[in-house]
Amino acid sequence: MDGKRILLIIGGGIAAYKSLELIRTLSKRGIASRCILTRAGAEFVTPLSVSALSGEKVFGDLFDLTDEAEMGHIELSRSSDLVVVCPATADLMARAAQGLAGDLATTALLATDTPVLMVPAMNVRMWDHAATRRNVERLRADGVTVMEPDEGAMACGEFGPGRLPEIDRIAEAITTQLARSQRLSGRHAIVTAGPTREPLDPVRYLSNQSSGRQGYAIAEALAREGAQVTLVSGPVMLPAPPGVTRVDVETARDMLAGVEAALPADIFVSVAAVADWRPARSADRKLKLKDEAGETPPLNLTENPDILATLSRKRKHRPELVIGFAAETHDVEAHARAKLERKGCDWILANDVSGDVMGGGENEVLLIRGEGSDHWPRAGKAELARKLADEVSEHFARAQ
Ligand code: C5P
Repeated sequence: MDGKRILLIIGGGIAAYKSLELIRTLSKRGIASRCILTRAGAEFVTPLSVSALSGEKVFGDLFDLTDEAEMGHIELSRSSDLVVVCPATADLMARAAQGLAGDLATTALLATDTPVLMVPAMNVRMWDHAATRRNVERLRADGVTVMEPDEGAMACGEFGPGRLPEIDRIAEAITTQLARSQRLSGRHAIVTAGPTREPLDPVRYLSNQSSGRQGYAIAEALAREGAQVTLVSGPVMLPAPPGVTRVDVETARDMLAGVEAALPADIFVSVAAVADWRPARSADRKLKLKDEAGETPPLNLTENPDILATLSRKRKHRPELVIGFAAETHDVEAHARAKLERKGCDWILANDVSGDVMGGGENEVLLIRGEGSDHWPRAGKAELARKLADEVSEHFARAQ
């Protein structure tokens, strides 16, 4: 682990003193800690102890102009391989779940593009409270890894889940996360996302409801595993995920060309909701209400190329792992299995789109490969993306 660095945010709870031991344990494993001590955290441990153990300056106040001049909060949040919040108090998690940025700790959490691991420690009732459950769920949906606390006697005299996990367990989780981010290094992944737009005339087009969120989350998750990612995207309202190369396209034909231009690749994930047809003719000028014969213009359609099937059947430069999506409204598994065969891809992620999946923040999928299938229960799109990136990483680890 030599050369790795975490940003350690120390929240204000009685368990804060244990963060000192964590810094030492990590340093023995070759992991350096740069620390933010919240105002409440500084009530439990002193900046001096933290800086003595970490060997670095400790950051505390967002409005400390000297710190901002040396290293801005944005830079601070990005110059590490992992952000760890330990202890993560109920209050800090609630603020992070809301996206508040009233102090340096929450600002860094909002500004970071590195993975975040939270290690909760709090009274059992606070941990069990519906508000905390909600916040933990929200954070997980946003892609944050929240560890389960230990169960046992607490500083406040009560018993139950809420204790900070053993330091070795935390160090292990940190080491695993740091190792993880390298599993796809040296691999190139192409991901398609969003809808396509098929023009009828210069101002009108055929399109669909796809928001691009699932594809963007997958591109980001693969990049976090160390892959070089090209995201070929239809028109969506999302910023490119950090470290990902985005190629903007409009039509299905442009999307296919964008994908082919990005080859060779090890992985292809076809998430885009590609329009199956396009208007047979796209007029150069805006169509009139009625054509010359006084008729409503007819809408003649022609089939678009199937990008997934084209990539799956490539003789030259076929990516080693080709993954498709199947949006179905009924008989999900049977239809998806037939699609796997028909398209010739290796895996298919099937989802039921009869509800609010398209354009929504959550998804529920069935991963179909070969004979087997795995059901992934409803979860945030970021969480499902991480699961997929995990499976892809495992696949390449097994193949080696
Ligand atoms: O046949 P269907 O459109 O349901 O297939 C869905 C899968 O095929 C998705 O992975 C989608 O990205 C891909 N697809 C494609 N090109 C098309 C249509 C679908 O790549 N023209």
